[in-house]
Amino acid sequence: MSDLRFGVIGWGYWGPKIARNLDSLPHASVEMVVDTDPNRLASVALIQPWAQATTDVRKLFRSTIDAVVVATPVHTHYKLAKEALLHGKHVLVEKPLAASVEQAEELVALAQQQDRILMVGHIFEYSPAVNELRKLVQAGDLGKIYCVETERLNLGLFRNDINVIWDLAPHDISILLYLFGETPQDIRVQADAHVQPHIHDIAHLNLSFADGMRAHIHVSWLHPCKIRKVTIIGDARMAVYDDTNPSERIKVYNKGADVHADPIISYRYGETTIPYIEYGEVEPLHLECEDFAHAIRTGTQPRADGKAGLRVVQVLAAAQEALARQEDVYTVSAVK
Ligand SMILES: NC(=O)c1ccc[n+]([C@@H]2O[C@H](COP(=O)([O-])OP(=O)(O)OC[C@H]3O[C@@H](n4cnc5c(N)ncnc54)[C@H](O)[C@@H]3O)[C@@H](O)[C@H]2O)c1
Repeated sequence: MSDLRFGVIGWGYWGPKIARNLDSLPHASVEMVVDTDPNRLASVALIQPWAQATTDVRKLFRSTIDAVVVATPVHTHYKLAKEALLHGKHVLVEKPLAASVEQAEELVALAQQQDRILMVGHIFEYSPAVNELRKLVQAGDLGKIYCVETERLNLGLFRNDINVIWDLAPHDISILLYLFGETPQDIRVQADAHVQPHIHDIAHLNLSFADGMRAHIHVSWLHPCKIRKVTIIGDARMAVYDDTNPSERIKVYNKGADVHADPIISYRYGETTIPYIEYGEVEPLHLECEDFAHAIRTGTQPRADGKAGLRVVQVLAAAQEALARQEDVYTVSAVK
């Protein structure tokens, strides 16, 4: 197996975590780190002493490094990913793939032209718990799905370049698209900017799917408790995925309400099961990095490929457009 040499652009909160996981892969190492802020680079010598640290991204693009990770603020994703692809690098871009549909489309097309891997950091597609939930949904164990509710709430981390929708909802949108394999038809959004002018910090998104299923996404930087939950309401079973409860991440409830009975509505209070999650202890970020390396080595598409990134950006852009126009309902496919 030949060695893969990676470069990481952006050495803030997330970049070092990706670097640690890439370095733990067999025959792979992070050899160059770039950040425009030299103060951030000070820690490279301590935690990644074998890597070259630089503020000049051109050194990375001109190097013989095979693949690049972009872990910088969202408005920089497109430009950095484009340059990396044009220099023949494979690219993993943190979520969301880009700041607009046009940019995301261009990156997908460019990766194809350059015959390079373009991947997006949809980390939850690599979560063993989300994959267990997907199995339950796809096997029909929950029955017909009426609705899904997702909650991603905490106090902060406030960003000043994007709102809470672009920061947190990519996770929930990517989970929904991955679970159900469908893009929503339209979207309703309610959001408010309480702390920073014009930067929405609490948002509710309602997505309608072709088969009548609805999903409600609640994201917030202004909440007293850390909540990371997906609740799926099916007519046969209900499932709750609680990412903050490692020992019982998924619970399946045999609960529901049925008609055609006497009295008119009868309630079902059955057993609650906690499925065993294979690989439940493996870090999703490790699996994501493994998929990136595997895709580069084999030339196959990773699970969270550029097109998956584009689909999430389409929904985010529709939400943003609905907010800007202050329209109640916005058609997802209308966004370009
Ligand atoms: N998958 C996840 O769970 C997850 C978690 C956190 C962050 N993220 C994503 O990772 C990315 C970075 O987030 P973060 O929390 O690490 O942000 P951060 O602000 O902590 O770090 C970003 C770093 O990028 C540097 N930077 C800015 N512009 C640059 C440029 N043009 N070239 C090189 N360096 C530049 C900054 O100096 C900073 O050190 C975002 O896209 C975010 O959405 C993903």
